[in-house]
Amino acid sequence: MALALSSTVAPRFLPMRLPKVCLALSGDTAEDMLSTAESMARDNPFLEFRLDYLKHPLAALPKIHRFLEAHPYVTAIGTCRRVDNGGKFKGSLASQLEVLTKANAAGCQLVDLELESALKSKAEAIARLRSRAGLILSFHDFRATRNLDETLDKMLKVPADFYKVVSTATTLSDNVAMMKFLQSRGDKHALIGLCMGEQGLISRVLSVRAGSAFTFGAVSADLKTAPGQISTRDLRSIYRIDQVDAVTRIYGVVGDPIEHSLSPIIMNTALRRENVNGVYLALHAKTLKDLIHCVRGIPLHGLSITMPYKQAILSHLDNTDAHTTKIGACNTVVRGQDGKLYGFNTDAAGVVRPIEQRLSIEGAKVLVLGAGGAARAAVFGLQERGAEVWILNRTSAKAQKLARQAKARTIKRADLRKIAFDVIINATPVGMGNTRDCPLKDEEIQARVVFDMVYDPVETHLLQVARAKGIAVIPGVEMFVQQAARQFEIWTGKPAPADDMLRAVTIALQDRATAQKQPKA
Ligand code: ATR
Repeated sequence: MALALSSTVAPRFLPMRLPKVCLALSGDTAEDMLSTAESMARDNPFLEFRLDYLKHPLAALPKIHRFLEAHPYVTAIGTCRRVDNGGKFKGSLASQLEVLTKANAAGCQLVDLELESALKSKAEAIARLRSRAGLILSFHDFRATRNLDETLDKMLKVPADFYKVVSTATTLSDNVAMMKFLQSRGDKHALIGLCMGEQGLISRVLSVRAGSAFTFGAVSADLKTAPGQISTRDLRSIYRIDQVDAVTRIYGVVGDPIEHSLSPIIMNTALRRENVNGVYLALHAKTLKDLIHCVRGIPLHGLSITMPYKQAILSHLDNTDAHTTKIGACNTVVRGQDGKLYGFNTDAAGVVRPIEQRLSIEGAKVLVLGAGGAARAAVFGLQERGAEVWILNRTSAKAQKLARQAKARTIKRADLRKIAFDVIINATPVGMGNTRDCPLKDEEIQARVVFDMVYDPVETHLLQVARAKGIAVIPGVEMFVQQAARQFEIWTGKPAPADDMLRAVTIALQDRATAQKQPKA
């Protein structure tokens, strides 16, 4: 992207020469801040020192100076945000400017000054600061995403090297507004833009694609300097921020809630492994209207749809395949080259693929427990492949309705012993989150293969009992991986690296289980 930067900008501040991620460093003491800097600088050579977090910012500067001298490859921003503008600095305007001037003398090539402070200062004072340091003029809206163009117009009256516009997203659509702003104004000005807040998470990755000179990352998930910040490690290892550019394809998973979704881990693993220039994000859509607006406004290439939108999304798509229409739920959306949105359901593939790796589905006798969305995908998928399917559900009327639609049968619990099932599939949430609950009594678990769609924990009570009886088991992670693998194939036309995806999700689940066991500090 061509940037018309003013001639006063030193080459080291050209946005394309800066790393894509700046690590925001907080800490109560200079020692804390610098020990983090010391341990992370090698992987994160672009640092922001949040001097306002320190009790005595001026006293810390000689230490920062020594650090920067010892790490000449580091580019540093000095920031001393005032309390009124979301920071912690309580001193006067003159002291704020003094801290920034001395931060620059200590080796911070860039300094960040809020618009509010700049407007209250004399133009000469700002010009003096900028004569030595690269100036980031910043504006933060802690409530909403609004008036972005007007804000920038106001900011442009103060000469600066970068204009940083940060808003708060309360909807996904706010991210659309930020992306459009960056795309339309980023050609002429060196902008940094992103949305704070949990709803703004996607902007922390996508802003770089839309033209933000860089983005900010946290030291870790617990040490954020702004709401919604992602750790630099995740920005690099999960979202591959260093590779994100204007042609990176955007994929995502949409749902409510979405925070604990493992889809970003599994899908970004696949994209990385297959060298696809794409990034996969979690989109927390609180309403369908917001979701649709976001889908239309951001050039999303593909979406995974989860609860509660699998049915509701259907009427907003341009077309769905016959299989998806029959199931009545869509978990995969792809934007065609014509710009239209096409819906698919890969949940059935998620059920069928792991089973066919163990036995021939044609003619197999399968018991499906449950009659909700997950059961529907299993019943239709297996019927289509020639299995004989029986449905057992807590509410028998729902089982009967599904059986009628899918030309399957229902069965009473008392009659389970009458049929020798090849496969039992649990499509209820019973067993989720614990290793106690089980949808069947131990003596009812009789089959060649037992498949639990519940994937957290990996080894549910149902699977434990089946395994103890010598029955082959299919853990829910396999379904999770296979439905994702099919999505990947639909989106990219490449075979999915299912083994790598399974490994990534298994590790993530183990990490999660370990974290849950650790006592909270
Ligand atoms: P999903 O889309 O994940 O399948 P769902 O549509 O809410 O979720 O369906 C959940 C299924 O699990 C239903 O068949 C439900 O039985 P009802 O139709 O009787 O509601 C079943 N289910 C949920 N909790 C259950 C429980 N504690 N015991 C037995 N079945 C249960």
